[in-house]
Amino acid sequence: MNAEDILSKMTLEEKAAFCSGLDFWHTKAVERLGVPSVMMCDGPHGLRKQDQRGDHLGVNDSIQTVCYPTAAALASSFDRDVMRRLGEALGQECQAEDVAMLLGPGLNIKRSPLCGRNFEYFSEDPTLAGEMAAAYVQALQSKGVAACCKHFACNNQETRRMSGSSELDERTLREIYLPAFETAVKKGGAQAVMCAYNAVNGVYCAENRMLLTDILRGDWGFNGFVVTDWGAVKDPAKGVAAGLDLEMPGGAHATGEEIAAAVRAGTLAEEDLDRAVLRLLRFVLGSVENRDPGAQIDRDACRLLSRQLAEECAVLLKNEGVLPLQEGQDVAFIGEFADRPRYQGAGSSHINVPHAVSALEAVGGDVVYARGFDAHSETTDEALLAKAVEAARGAEAAVVFAGLPDAFETEGADREHMRLPANQNALIEAVAAVNPHTVVVLHGGAPMELPWLDKVPAVLCMYLAGEQAGAAAVDLLFGRCEPCGHLPETWPLRLQDNPSYLNFPGEDGVVTYAEGVFVGYRYYDKKEMAVAFPFGHGLSYTGFSYSELRVDRDRLTDRDTLTVSVDVSNIGPRPGKACVQLYVRDVESSVRRPVRELRDFARLTLMPGETKTVAFTLGKRAFAYYEPKLRDFFVESGEFVLELGESSRDLRVRKSVYVEGTAALPLHITDVSPIADLMRHPMGAVIVQQFMDRPDSPLNDSAENLGEGSDRMMENMIRELPLGALLSFDYVTREELRRLLDAVRE
Ligand code: BGC
Repeated sequence: MNAEDILSKMTLEEKAAFCSGLDFWHTKAVERLGVPSVMMCDGPHGLRKQDQRGDHLGVNDSIQTVCYPTAAALASSFDRDVMRRLGEALGQECQAEDVAMLLGPGLNIKRSPLCGRNFEYFSEDPTLAGEMAAAYVQALQSKGVAACCKHFACNNQETRRMSGSSELDERTLREIYLPAFETAVKKGGAQAVMCAYNAVNGVYCAENRMLLTDILRGDWGFNGFVVTDWGAVKDPAKGVAAGLDLEMPGGAHATGEEIAAAVRAGTLAEEDLDRAVLRLLRFVLGSVENRDPGAQIDRDACRLLSRQLAEECAVLLKNEGVLPLQEGQDVAFIGEFADRPRYQGAGSSHINVPHAVSALEAVGGDVVYARGFDAHSETTDEALLAKAVEAARGAEAAVVFAGLPDAFETEGADREHMRLPANQNALIEAVAAVNPHTVVVLHGGAPMELPWLDKVPAVLCMYLAGEQAGAAAVDLLFGRCEPCGHLPETWPLRLQDNPSYLNFPGEDGVVTYAEGVFVGYRYYDKKEMAVAFPFGHGLSYTGFSYSELRVDRDRLTDRDTLTVSVDVSNIGPRPGKACVQLYVRDVESSVRRPVRELRDFARLTLMPGETKTVAFTLGKRAFAYYEPKLRDFFVESGEFVLELGESSRDLRVRKSVYVEGTAALPLHITDVSPIADLMRHPMGAVIVQQFMDRPDSPLNDSAENLGEGSDRMMENMIRELPLGALLSFDYVTREELRRLLDAVRE
């Protein structure tokens, strides 16, 4: 039987009950119609399959398995292939463990460095987040396992995460907070979306028709199903009416009876319920069809993959001739994280790992180790500090393994500040004071303030790199592999610089995204602010040059596509990976826009002396902003500059193109509209010009007595003049004004 046949045979009660889960991790079966129960599990950077008592906080045990780099690290690869390899491995593992859906990826935008779940999210940039998510979704689903994009939408903090409201304007929603989901749905083909706990502009996501139906299904053509975040349902019938399909977790409280009652009472249309059930049935039947009963998992191979991915993700933030370390060099490893690396965050994504590899273990017996600080404390232990300084003084190079302690980064709570614990800062300062070859290795899922940055010659950021973090760090430090990650977010100098600073985490459960579209580098660049490390920054042990930027046309309309290509050469002594980032800048715009926005990226492996060409295709969206008046993306005709380089502030080549927008803004003109508004419209501009050219036009009034610059002054005065005021100053008669307005409206 297909889904439609099954639906037609289900009773109202069966249908209503089907819209909530069986227990913590399973959908309900409908045995009499042959519909089985299927399982879903947390991820996204490993499989958290619970056999025993389920929970959504990582409290109870799950199966022992492999922990891969977290999203913050993965996004630093700027490499879709990294996501593909991970997605395929996880898909295979889900098949081997009989899991139909993995609850990931998490793709919320990093609005503030303080969000407690930033380690689970990709980026401050929607293009990067969306492309990484889409690659992961495609790969996971290629193994017959559904992906579930979460948390839809505007779940950008943990404070009041289950009850608060994120308040923002439509343009910001469409340009910053939704596009990653849009890409994961349209390009990735995601089968499921998890709605967030919070409300958007006062309407809970689980009941938000605009999000779940109008945008997700209407605008984007999503034909999968929507599951709640665990416990996000408020009013189940309202949810189904808005486009929600499955409430999780299920259990004794399950809301089927409420839904059935709403249908009987006529407050919920049965067609809405049918639609939800049909979507769920299609998922369940699809996963039965896609089951791969023979699937096996080779966890040793997965561990190796985890290590390789961690190496592909780490970001070399600074290197003044210290790295790579020489094999056999006399090195001290300092800091508790050398022995007990931090490699994942706490909460529902927590993976049960039998053994995480530390740097100390990976490096072998050849280094001196000093613990340096107690990771459970923030105050300096003088004895530990003294021993560490001793070790550093005697070594040719000192590597301090530092970062955010476990307690700082967790689901359910935001960080309170952006600092490292005081004992770690003191340790780094003390070590750097006695050893000029000090390297800091950072573990943590989000930016940190680095007050000692000028005093150390090298910093390597591992983010939270999964269970092989230690092994990967050692390989990178000694140049056994090449650092090639780039930052998926700006590292500001201090928290106060961040655009959300005055509005995070909000008050009384309401957070206003007052910075609008100016999130991350969009803000820092607009304000020309100094930052610790810009978006997209990352060094390597070699160097790259960019040349021959080409476009297939230099004039186009927004219905055309533009092909952009560039040659990239490895001009250094070692192999490496270039991270080619393509930004687009609107030279002049009548709305506030960021200076530049990332529109595509690629990573290229290059041997010394080798040159490769990379090509990108840009469409309308690369040049557009979201225009609420059109409820659509809109290109304003004019010049755009393509900028390519290795970071948002290391742009190597540029080229201008002229893009003509083919849509017109609707003209809403009344007698209080200033003349400037009229002039934005092509026809309006003609009418204004005709008016200005009249001998009795105010422009022809003599402004001679007003001195130099008076023409400009007059012109500006006129631009600001409301149409109605033309009448007050007797420039037009009432009849002429009416004719003018009629002409414009036509
Ligand atoms: C989290 C989700 C997770 C779910 C199930 C929730 O608390 O927000 O990301 O998938 O629990 O564990």
